[in-house]
Amino acid sequence: MNAQKKKIISNLIADYHLLAFDELDSTNEEAKRLAKAGGSHGAVVWAKKQTGGKGRMGRAWVSDDGNLFVSLLLQPEKPFEELAQLSFVAALSALEAIAPMLPEPADLQTKWPNDILLADKKLGGILLESFRTDGSEKAWVVVGVGINVDSHPTKTDFPATCLKEAGVELVSAKIILSRFIHHFIERYDEWSSKGFAPIRKNWLVHAWHLKERLVARLPDGGMDMKTEGIFDGIDADGSLVLIVENEKGVGKKHIISAADVYA
Ligand code: BTN
Repeated sequence: MNAQKKKIISNLIADYHLLAFDELDSTNEEAKRLAKAGGSHGAVVWAKKQTGGKGRMGRAWVSDDGNLFVSLLLQPEKPFEELAQLSFVAALSALEAIAPMLPEPADLQTKWPNDILLADKKLGGILLESFRTDGSEKAWVVVGVGINVDSHPTKTDFPATCLKEAGVELVSAKIILSRFIHHFIERYDEWSSKGFAPIRKNWLVHAWHLKERLVARLPDGGMDMKTEGIFDGIDADGSLVLIVENEKGVGKKHIISAADVYA
């Protein structure tokens, strides 16, 4: 590891403890290394920049200084199949952390599966990785969150933005981090005690293009396949529910677990 560790700041609250770095390859990778080296539930790995930031579906995540890059290492008391629900917990927490800073909070939306949009452009994304380590009964999950604070990439499939571009000037990645952790702790406790239903309900309140037409691009053996339909919500597992019409105009429910969606 060629990263420079800055300091272990403090116990944020109960199990949560912040590990701050000037630079890392990827905060997700560091959180995974930590789990394998005997780390504990609640580690919050924060880096000012990343040299190998990772996005969904094997993409790179542009990680310049000034934006937020954080990964939470967690070991929930839940079955492995439910751990992916944490990306919705994180998306909702990010939205709650940022919305009060905006002149038009309603411009901030959740986009399936795990993006944060501001005025129809991508402000942030979440990369969730779950795994088991030798000798541990409970699975680990790393919830990686990237938020564009000062800058955003320009050559992207889906247009991107940052808080600065939206006129939010006097805010730093560190401020967003502390607000995000505050909301995440609350939402994580809610998820732990009450399950996915309240998270799902609140996530849907902010969902981009709900009850409107969406195109889902499914990664299928290297060939992109498209499904188009009306976005009818997410199911109890967090999968996308699309109502797709056949040639007779009859709608049929399609459940999609992995895709990129477009309007
Ligand atoms: C996506 O939208 O494709 C997900 C992007 C996730 C980026 C974050 S930045 C912090 C953490 N570390 C990484 O390498 N990736 C995630």
